[in-house]
Amino acid sequence: MLRPRSAGGATGGALVTVRTFDTAVEAAAALAGEVACRIREHPALVLGLPTGRTPVAFYRALVRSIRREGIPVSGLTTFNLDEFLGISAEQPGSYRSYMEHHLFGPIGLQPGQVNFLEGTTPDPRCECERYERAIAACGGLDVQVLGIGANGHIGFNEPGEWLALRTHRVTLRPETRRANAGSFGGRVDAVPHEALSMGLGTILQARKIVLLAAGREKARAVSLMVRGPLTTAVPASFLQLHSDVDVLLDRAAAALLADRGAERDRG
Ligand code: F6R
Repeated sequence: MLRPRSAGGATGGALVTVRTFDTAVEAAAALAGEVACRIREHPALVLGLPTGRTPVAFYRALVRSIRREGIPVSGLTTFNLDEFLGISAEQPGSYRSYMEHHLFGPIGLQPGQVNFLEGTTPDPRCECERYERAIAACGGLDVQVLGIGANGHIGFNEPGEWLALRTHRVTLRPETRRANAGSFGGRVDAVPHEALSMGLGTILQARKIVLLAAGREKARAVSLMVRGPLTTAVPASFLQLHSDVDVLLDRAAAALLADRGAERDRG
C-alpha cells in the first residue's frame, strides 16, 4: 500500500514511490537536487522535460544548483514533452520560449542539445516520427520529468476512449486550453486547439520517471494515478506499469492519498 508521510517522507510501493513535502517549493527543490545529481554523475544524460506552472520552481532550483555547484551541462541532451500546433518557437506562448526563459537560456544550453517538436511543421505526422527517431538515436530517455493535469493527462495525452502509444497530434480538451490561457495573455480563445505530444509508450520507455504535482486541484488526479485502475480516462494511471516512478507532492496534492489511506486504516 502506498501511504504518504509528512515532509520529505518516502513510501515505497511495488511500482510508484510517493514523497510528500510540506510545500510545493520544497518538493521542487528536492526534485532539482536529484536531477542536478544525475547530471553531475552522468554528464551525457538524456532528459525529458515538461512545461507548465508547476515546474517553474523546479527549473529555478535546478538553475541555482547547476550554477552554484558548477555542474557542466555541455553533454546534456533534452527532449520536451509537447508543443502547441501552429505556434512557432519564437512566439511567447510556445513551450519552446517557456523553456528558453526558465532553463535553456539560464544554464546556456546550445540549440544542438535541445530537442523540441516543431509547432509550425507542415507535416505533423512526419514531425512526430522524426521526434521518435531522434529519441531512439540518443539511446532513449534516461530521466523523464512530468507534471500532471487536473484531468489526469501527462504530456498532452488527454483522457479519452483510447491513448496513442507514440508521439502524435492531439486535440486539447477545453479544460487544458483554459489551464494554458495564462501563456496567451489570459485569452482562452488564443490557446491552440491542437498540439504535438510524446505518447504514453514514449514516456513509459524512459528509464526513470519523476512526476511533480502541487495544489489541491491535482489531488484527485494524483490519487487516481497512484491508486486507481489503469484507464484511458486517467492517462497518468498507466505510470503504474513503469518499474521506477517517483512522485513528489506537496501536502495539498497528496490530500486524497492521505484521506483514502486513513479510510482504509479505519476500515
Ligand atoms: C506540459 C505538460 C502537461 C503539464 C500539466 C500540468 O508540458 O506536460 O502535462 O505538466 O498540464 O500543468 P501545470 O503545471 O501548469 O498545472
